[in-house]
Amino acid sequence: MKMNIAIDGPSAAGKSTIAKILAKQLQYAHLDTGAMYRCVAYGAKLLGVDEHDEDALVKMIDALDIEFRGEGSVYIKGTDVSKEIRTNDISMSASKVSAFPKVRARLVEKQREIAKDKGYILDGRDIGTVVLPDAEIKIYMVASSVARAKRRYKEYLEKQIPAVYDEIYKDIEQRDYQDSHRAVSPLKKAEDAVEIDTSDMTIDEVVNRILSIIQSV
Ligand code: DC
Repeated sequence: MKMNIAIDGPSAAGKSTIAKILAKQLQYAHLDTGAMYRCVAYGAKLLGVDEHDEDALVKMIDALDIEFRGEGSVYIKGTDVSKEIRTNDISMSASKVSAFPKVRARLVEKQREIAKDKGYILDGRDIGTVVLPDAEIKIYMVASSVARAKRRYKEYLEKQIPAVYDEIYKDIEQRDYQDSHRAVSPLKKAEDAVEIDTSDMTIDEVVNRILSIIQSV
């Protein structure tokens, strides 16, 4: 029987990488909920909507027609924005727009609708606590700020996105603060989540650890 798997944790802890691999191995679908907040931030920039105007942002969400197509690609109004939504600038803006309760409510509704038939691995900040509190498996993935900044820097270089290490480190710390101190659905470990510190673990080790958790259910 298919389940839903929630993977939460701070930025660059490895959630999306691990979720993609697990989804392939388990033949589950993967929903990167951070990409949805990134689309709101990028869409606002694209359409000239003020990122401080909560009502205007909510109104814009449906018009964006956010779509996930194969291999983790993300589309806004039929245009592939997979690369554009990954810049540092959009990361910071996504963290800001994600603090608006009405923006969250609309995206959470979409996420629940997508995952309603199970068989999904969702990664984000509030999956185990708010989006799917009944998820059968809940993982809370953490890593030191240095480990995360190094990973993000390497990822940017590989994807040929311009990056400065010190800026990435600073932004990670700032996003951690913003994401865990906002009033609505702050980043927080669900009581029944299993915490995994991936700082000194390889990708394979993390995948195997989660597979063993799944098998023990
Ligand atoms: O996972 P990410 O770095 O792509 O997420 C971008 C931002 O979106 C992050 O700073 C916080 C926000 N976010 C959120 O508030 N809730 C989620 N479920 C996923 C992301």
